Amino acid sequence: MNFNSGPVKDIFDLDTVICMEMEDAEPASTRMLLDTLNIDPIMKRLGGIPRKGKTVILPSMDGPGTVVVVGLGKRENVDTEVLRTSLSTAIKAVGPGCKNLGIVLPEIFPAEAEAMEVAYTYEITSYSFDEFKAEKKTSPDLLRILSDMEIKHGIEKGRIMGEATNLTRYLADLPSSIGTPTFFEKTLRENGRVAVTALGRDDFIKFGMGGLEGVSRGAHEPARLLIAEYGDRELPAIMLVGKGITFDSGGISIKPSDGMQEMKFDKCGAAAVLGAMKAITELGLNAHVVGLMPLTENMPGGGSYKPGEILRHYNGVTSEVISTDAEGRLVLADALAFGIDKYRPASVIDLATLTGACVIALGNNIAGVMGNNKGLQEKIIEASKNTWEKLWPLPLDDDFREQIRSDVADIKNTGGRPGGAETAGAFLSNFVGEVPWVHLDIAGTAWRGQKTSKKDYLGPGATGFGTRLLVEFVMANSG
Ligand code: BES
Ligand code: MN
Ligand code: ZN
Repeated sequence: MNFNSGPVKDIFDLDTVICMEMEDAEPASTRMLLDTLNIDPIMKRLGGIPRKGKTVILPSMDGPGTVVVVGLGKRENVDTEVLRTSLSTAIKAVGPGCKNLGIVLPEIFPAEAEAMEVAYTYEITSYSFDEFKAEKKTSPDLLRILSDMEIKHGIEKGRIMGEATNLTRYLADLPSSIGTPTFFEKTLRENGRVAVTALGRDDFIKFGMGGLEGVSRGAHEPARLLIAEYGDRELPAIMLVGKGITFDSGGISIKPSDGMQEMKFDKCGAAAVLGAMKAITELGLNAHVVGLMPLTENMPGGGSYKPGEILRHYNGVTSEVISTDAEGRLVLADALAFGIDKYRPASVIDLATLTGACVIALGNNIAGVMGNNKGLQEKIIEASKNTWEKLWPLPLDDDFREQIRSDVADIKNTGGRPGGAETAGAFLSNFVGEVPWVHLDIAGTAWRGQKTSKKDYLGPGATGFGTRLLVEFVMANSG
């Protein structure tokens, strides 16, 4: 999307302008627009200031043909979430003929921060996975953010984070036949600012990555462990690891067929890491970031790994396979241990659509967070406060570690139904040693099915959860 900025008076080449109103206060910028176009009388006739999240569409005789006014509710209740939801309603109300769109900043928050949120919201509201549909979503060619303040940096930041989130969503929305491990590799290599390492099955065997080897054994699509390194090698590294199961059939422990199509979304963690790397590099953050994406499908077949197998992971820990459907932790185990050994990071964050149990516990709008370091966990929760990507802590007590002890190996890959999200986290803790680490279980938040859709800036399909969160974290915790 093309963005520019200009003063509120600079609207006469625009087709549509969006502005915002509150019940008990009026942004000076909105007043200026309504006065310039002299359309107050029409708004009064159409019922006055719209309620929170509602729009009035006003024709104007002068300049832009249409003004969309959206309500934000009461001044004291306006936060960035209210801004995102209300603004997205207004954006969706813009007619298909609009080529040049303007949005007047309400100037409730500092202008740069507000411009960032507006550009970001515009990007993620405009996303549509319609590559395979005859009917495509149309959007304007130009968005001008109207303010008398200096907002170029804010716009740029919002655009970059929005586009990165949409790349995550696109990779996640792709069917497994296209969004393959090698497609991820091709997409990653398009990012010229990272050093890419791509390991395949031969390397998994050579390096003793038994989890990646086992899960990928029955796959037809060639598997990959992708590593992207960015930034100043002298700085302590932040390591990001994302689960990338391009399709999770469950393997030999096959899943019920009802709803199985949604398991193309089991690559959302890896997609979020790839999207976040795009934003981190485009923003040119002064940081050292290493992204790891273990990517494979999990398929049943004569050559597949089987329940009862014992796998030896990169760090020597052995795991007994109780269910081939608990595959995410097996591939993450090797990615975590390998990444920590090779890059010696100062902190590690992993994201995974890991357990149905987390969906049951926290629902579809909050991801579970657990780890081995309170300070790091606080920092990621702090970063989440700047975005819609909410987190809630889950416990990783020793009891959960007990629950996954195996009679024949060091640990087993399931601990039964009780505390399913926590035993998965406890499993991963065996592969990070003493390095500060947090694990985000995004199984409930990474995509929306028909049942979980709500009307806001994200439509159905992948949400891109984690992309902006990771960028916010790196921004807040680097130079
Ligand atoms: N990818 C699934 C988890 C999942 C399920 C995410 C539903 C989103 C929605 C994961 O690989 C899995 O199958 N987990 C099992 C673990 C069990 C076998 C211990 C689960 O949660 O049922
Ligand atoms: Mn599974
Ligand atoms: Zn899975």
